[in-house]
Amino acid sequence: MGKEKYKETWKAPKISGIFYLGTTMDSLTTVAVIFSYVLSLLRISVAVDTIIVNQNITDGETITSAGGSFELGFFSPGNSKNRYLGIWYKKVATGTVVWVANRESPLTDSSGVLKVTEQGILVLVNGTNGILWNSNSSRFAEDPNAQLLESGNLVMRSGNDSDSENFFWQSFDYPCDTLLPGMKFGRNRVTGLDRYLSSWKSDDDPSKGNFTYGIDLSGFPQLLLRNGLAVEFRAGPWNGVRYSGIPQLTNNSVYTFNFVSNEKEIYFIYSLVNSSVIMRLVLTPDGYSRRFTWTDQKNEWTLYSTTQKDDCDNYAICGVYGICKIDESPKCECMKGFRPKFQSNWDMADWSKGCVRSTPLDCQKGDGFVKYSGVKLPDTRNSWFDESMNLKECASLCLRNCSCTAYANSDIRGGGSGCLLWFDDLIDIRDFTQNGQEFYARMAASESGINFSFCCLRNINLIQISWYIYSKVLNQLFTVHTCL
Ligand SMILES: *[C@@H]1O[C@H](CO)[C@@H](O)[C@H](O)[C@H]1NC(C)=O
Ligand SMILES: *[C@@H]1O[C@H](CO)[C@@H](O)[C@H](O)[C@H]1NC(C)=O
Ligand SMILES: *[C@@H]1O[C@H](CO)[C@@H](O)[C@H](O)[C@H]1NC(C)=O
Ligand SMILES: *[C@@H]1O[C@H](CO)[C@@H](O)[C@H](O)[C@H]1NC(C)=O
Ligand SMILES: *[C@@H]1O[C@H](CO)[C@@H](O)[C@H](O)[C@H]1NC(C)=O
Ligand SMILES: *[C@@H]1O[C@H](CO)[C@@H](O)[C@H](O)[C@H]1NC(C)=O
Ligand SMILES: *[C@@H]1O[C@H](CO)[C@@H](O)[C@H](O)[C@H]1NC(C)=O
Ligand SMILES: *[C@@H]1O[C@H](CO)[C@@H](O)[C@H](O)[C@H]1NC(C)=O
Ligand SMILES: *[C@@H]1O[C@H](CO)[C@@H](O)[C@H](O)[C@H]1NC(C)=O
Repeated sequence: MGKEKYKETWKAPKISGIFYLGTTMDSLTTVAVIFSYVLSLLRISVAVDTIIVNQNITDGETITSAGGSFELGFFSPGNSKNRYLGIWYKKVATGTVVWVANRESPLTDSSGVLKVTEQGILVLVNGTNGILWNSNSSRFAEDPNAQLLESGNLVMRSGNDSDSENFFWQSFDYPCDTLLPGMKFGRNRVTGLDRYLSSWKSDDDPSKGNFTYGIDLSGFPQLLLRNGLAVEFRAGPWNGVRYSGIPQLTNNSVYTFNFVSNEKEIYFIYSLVNSSVIMRLVLTPDGYSRRFTWTDQKNEWTLYSTTQKDDCDNYAICGVYGICKIDESPKCECMKGFRPKFQSNWDMADWSKGCVRSTPLDCQKGDGFVKYSGVKLPDTRNSWFDESMNLKECASLCLRNCSCTAYANSDIRGGGSGCLLWFDDLIDIRDFTQNGQEFYARMAASESGINFSFCCLRNINLIQISWYIYSKVLNQLFTVHTCL
């Protein structure tokens, strides 16, 4: 995609290599021949990974990360004639692009130049010095430089900084459509920085397409894939082990993953078990989250996994209080104690209007809960959570609040902990054959076929006792709290 920038090949480490070769030779002429040979070799194989103030990268020049994995320079995607500044795989023959700087402001010719300013800002200008893109930073830099790391991260730091990890700008903070190993996928809660993926418009156009994929912080945080503003797919909340809606996210021999959530940050991150594996996660122009690995033998990307599994991953396909079961026909059914809101629509496979309660809730008389297992938790955008409570406290809290529609553990590790409460219609629930979760949905106690008129929940300050009643009608265990 361009010639490597080699003007810094005269740096000390490379010269010491030449001396070593030179001193092992007997004949002066051989030394001279080897010397010039080594020089030309260096010019080809040793590339610079850093640019400093007053240096630049013009169209046709590139810099390469130290181990030769990634290259930065100008490129034209697909059939496009436009020029973009980007980072791509160097070892991989297809030169797949992983990051684009000026995705919204392409160059129409090859006049682009990337510069590092004295203030420590990366600036991309065109032939008339018009600024097409720049990095930004709130910190002031001394002797700044930009380096392309082996991870594919383009970083800016001060030359006087002894902490080599102290970046004041990095491309990993501004992802495009690709999540590389080591990138944080999520938010900095202090600065508000939101690292989400956004699809390319098409293979020929890296500008922002219709789809975004990132963490939503309303209610209990969850990972949402949107088409414009509308949710397309909900990976769901993190349950301590994985995202509730991605059962296939399990420990494996290829990559490890971690989810960090504290008062400063909330993000997902993955890293490779064997660093010689090449893997990327990409949000495609048509809105699929896909993980690929590079296969040298075939010289092509192999699809490792697609996050969206099947039709049941279409957001809210069964409407409110509906459950999607991919192996059933029809795939949508109402939750227990619910019936289709519009039976005729339902019969014609239009499930979008969802289901309604067969028996209205009667909070005063006392409601019960039906347990659902092996499912993806409902949409948590209108939920509340407390990570220190246990399931009993959680049940009691939900029961005492008449607008609470369901509860669950927020973390499934070690038998479960934390409390998650829903305060809205339950939506986007699906069945999983493995790695599903449990939650408890509020039901009218009378739905159990048992007369609960002895319940006297009018005064919640009275001592509460719990009844566990098995309903033959629903084939479910009810937890009913009554008072003495
Ligand atoms: C880029 O840098 C080179 C020297 O490193 C200089 O000759 C050239 O004028 C610079 N180009 C631009 C457009 O700044
Ligand atoms: C350079 O960029 C500026 C500002 O983006 C724009 O107005 C100008 O037309 C561009 N010049 C060329 C030659 O593309
Ligand atoms: C950097 O630019 C982005 C977008 O222009 C802006 O939202 C952000 O606040 C800026 N950051 C700093 C540190 O100035
Ligand atoms: C580097 O230089 C900047 C600007 O002069 C200064 O604010 C900063 O403290 C310096 N850092 C170190 C580690 O000396
Ligand atoms: C997955 O790996 C992590 C880290 O090695 C470990 O803590 C966890 O228990 C493993 N989970 C499962 C389900 O094996
Ligand atoms: C990593 O993968 C490479 C290539 O497949 C292999 O040669 C190497 O032995 C692996 N390293 C480890 C530690 O498994
Ligand atoms: C993106 O949205 C536009 C406008 O809604 C639509 O015309 C286009 O087909 C969409 N593209 C994809 C790939 O969904
Ligand atoms: C029930 O919970 C909602 C949402 O958290 C809250 O606004 C409301 O005050 C609660 N009601 C009672 C009676 O605690
Ligand atoms: C439940 O029992 C009470 C008193 O025992 C009675 O008045 C009421 O009608 C019963 N309700 C139903 C639905 O059977």
